[in-house]
Amino acid sequence: MAGNWKMFKTPAETKDFFAKFLPLVAGSTHADFAICPPFVNIPAAVEAAAGSRAGIGGQNCYWQNKEGAFTGEVTPAMLKAAGCAYVIIGHSERRQFFGETDETVLGRTKAALEAGLIPMVCVGEMLADREAGKTNEVLATQFNGGIAGLTPEEFSRIVIAYEPVWAIGTGKVATPEMAGDAHKSIRALVEAKFGKNAAAAVRILYGGSVKPDNVKGLMAQPDIDGALVGGAALKPEDFAAIVNF
Ligand code: 13P
Repeated sequence: MAGNWKMFKTPAETKDFFAKFLPLVAGSTHADFAICPPFVNIPAAVEAAAGSRAGIGGQNCYWQNKEGAFTGEVTPAMLKAAGCAYVIIGHSERRQFFGETDETVLGRTKAALEAGLIPMVCVGEMLADREAGKTNEVLATQFNGGIAGLTPEEFSRIVIAYEPVWAIGTGKVATPEMAGDAHKSIRALVEAKFGKNAAAAVRILYGGSVKPDNVKGLMAQPDIDGALVGGAALKPEDFAAIVNF
């Protein structure tokens, strides 16, 4: 269960979140969970989460680990050195607003793996794609361009997140069946490229308006292994309820 804070919260608010959140999940041992705050909050989050089961992650990283003159970018190795275990890659907001392509997704994923991070690689269709019946086609294109270029060993260390763009921040959660179907087709793409064992082992998270009151239905789908949570992960009680589910 991963929380994507997007561009929300200050370091002080980060500290405050963990003070409230960690006691609520102290008894939880059944699921891995992580918070991905904005870069500037990573030190506060790592410090606050020390000694707990909460992992910390970045929301993006550069496609090489070598330092260089690339204003505004952060290497995966820097995230790792700052105490991160995870990084979100290829989120639809990066694809839509910041020019992310399948090619850069693949590069960033490889660099993250090289640094020892667990990449959470995002795929998902726009509303127009779904309405045109192109959901599986879009998922295949994103998978083939952004994920299929990994080696089998690299693939075994990633998490995939399916986020239908029309369900992000809109309150329009995909029905469990719609999400389950998309996860099933992603798992089929994995099987075709990396084999049965890899398909069974990979964790595929659903993201898009996940809340404490709909997590149960989504998680009942056999191909949904977890959630990538935006808005509800900003509230300690809500994200704790999702983790504890
Ligand atoms: P919401 O949960 O706010 O819809 O955001 C989903 C998301 O984009 C997580 O990465």
